[in-house]
Amino acid sequence: MERLELLESLVDTKKVFDVGSDHGLLAISLSKNHEVVASDISKSSIKKMEENVSKAKANVKVVLSDGLDNLDITKKDTVIIAGMGTYTILKILKNNIDKVPNTLIIQANNNHDILRKEITKLGYYIDREETLYQNRWYTIIRFKKGYKKYSKIDYLVGPNPSKEYLNFNLGLYVKALDKIPYKYFIKRYNIKRIIKQLKKMKDM
Ligand SMILES: C[S@@+](CC[C@H](N)C(=O)[O-])C[C@H]1O[C@@H](n2cnc3c(N)ncnc32)[C@H](O)[C@@H]1O
Repeated sequence: MERLELLESLVDTKKVFDVGSDHGLLAISLSKNHEVVASDISKSSIKKMEENVSKAKANVKVVLSDGLDNLDITKKDTVIIAGMGTYTILKILKNNIDKVPNTLIIQANNNHDILRKEITKLGYYIDREETLYQNRWYTIIRFKKGYKKYSKIDYLVGPNPSKEYLNFNLGLYVKALDKIPYKYFIKRYNIKRIIKQLKKMKDM
């Protein structure tokens, strides 16, 4: 399944805001079954999006907006943010925390451990998490308002990682360990513990 299709399959509300929509392709596809608002901070993205929406004759409202600033979101809606870095995503959410709805679908480009931890701190739990390999690994997380307790390893690889995704992460930590000089023994010890846990999970 393609990344955009996977994002779309996770939408379970009537109205969706695709924030940082750029080309608008996800918004256009979503508009077949949902009420859709597509936004972006970039004027050139908005222009491109408007052209694509018009070509597809899609029913998508296009809004120029920095994050959630100009968006009229209710708690029942979904905000999708895909293809941005974790810190940008967190900034977008924290800048307008009162507008953040009960459902978020996030595909961050990096720092997924920080993303999981920080969004759960905002009062959300991981309702679904999917990983997809398409030239590189993508992680797509649907958060819902509420609370669940997570372990350190849940934050690192998600609560229900596939064996393939665990293997990929295991490789990253083994490589990282190789690069850490012996004098940083605490750092090495912590990474060895993670490697041990990932191996155990992989063999379960
Ligand atoms: C790599 S594109 C991702 C496009 C699309 N969401 C996807 O996943 O294919 C990132 C987009 O986010 C937009 N963006 C970055 N910061 C933003 C912000 N604060 N508010 C709205 N859009 C933003 C950029 O202009 C760019 O169009």
